[in-house]
Amino acid sequence: MLKRLKFQLKICLILQEVKNWVELSNLLIIKAIGIIMKNDIQKWRTLFESYNAWDDKRARRVQGIESKVILRWLLDLKLPKYEILEVGCGNGYMGSLISSYFLKHNIDFKYHFTDLLPECIETTKKNLSSFPNQSLLRFSVLDVLKIDEVLGVGSQKIILSTGYASAATYKDAVPVVARSLGHKGILICDFVNHLSPIVFWINPRRRIKYFLDAIKGKNAFKEQKKVFVMNNLHFIKSKIIRFRRNPIVAMFQKVD
Ligand SMILES: C[S@@+](CC[C@H](N)C(=O)[O-])C[C@H]1O[C@@H](n2cnc3c(N)ncnc32)[C@H](O)[C@@H]1O
Repeated sequence: MLKRLKFQLKICLILQEVKNWVELSNLLIIKAIGIIMKNDIQKWRTLFESYNAWDDKRARRVQGIESKVILRWLLDLKLPKYEILEVGCGNGYMGSLISSYFLKHNIDFKYHFTDLLPECIETTKKNLSSFPNQSLLRFSVLDVLKIDEVLGVGSQKIILSTGYASAATYKDAVPVVARSLGHKGILICDFVNHLSPIVFWINPRRRIKYFLDAIKGKNAFKEQKKVFVMNNLHFIKSKIIRFRRNPIVAMFQKVD
């Protein structure tokens, strides 16, 4: 599997040499991530190193748009305090945007950055080293599959997870995430946008099925949604970040 991943990454790097192929090569990377969507530290480390700590202009642009949607949804909740756990935070860019907004607008909050990789947590700490109020932030190495064990059942108010292959959306992770959320707890995570023409070629049959579902008024990520609903996570809303691109961001609420 690792060989296959390395081979795919090599192709991506070659494709990235040609400007017009950048999107296609990014998608190959996403596809590669999809293949390894498990808590395998070595494989994630390979991706982290090959993909410049998830830091590029395009990723930042998508995260910028995504963070605005997430902030709007969070503010709509009108909570007296926002206690956020981010799983799979990568380099912490998304969390830094959200934390900075809260601080600037005097909104009461606490933000816990977590990732499977110690490298990600070190990078996140470095990227947030100039954040003025460090006592509002927390950083931990944490496997999404162990949130309930480490932080406690029903301990979380808001869980965020983004990045195409967002860690909280692994099939095995959804029950753990659901268990870790307290009553009416919120999960915001993202999914691949199957309606994006760019991802169509990866599995046209499946995309056509999703496309027809969408035309019939069903949701583009209907199948994934079932897993959440089965785990008492009620679907609240979703938004396509950009039509041509991934991802779709979605919000769920824990119901008992
Ligand atoms: C595709 S990256 C996304 C990073 C960041 N959220 C973003 O949007 O750029 C996925 C992240 O999830 C982390 N990850 C993978 N498996 C995980 C697990 N089992 N528990 C926690 N984090 C995990 C990876 O280390 C990586 O940083």
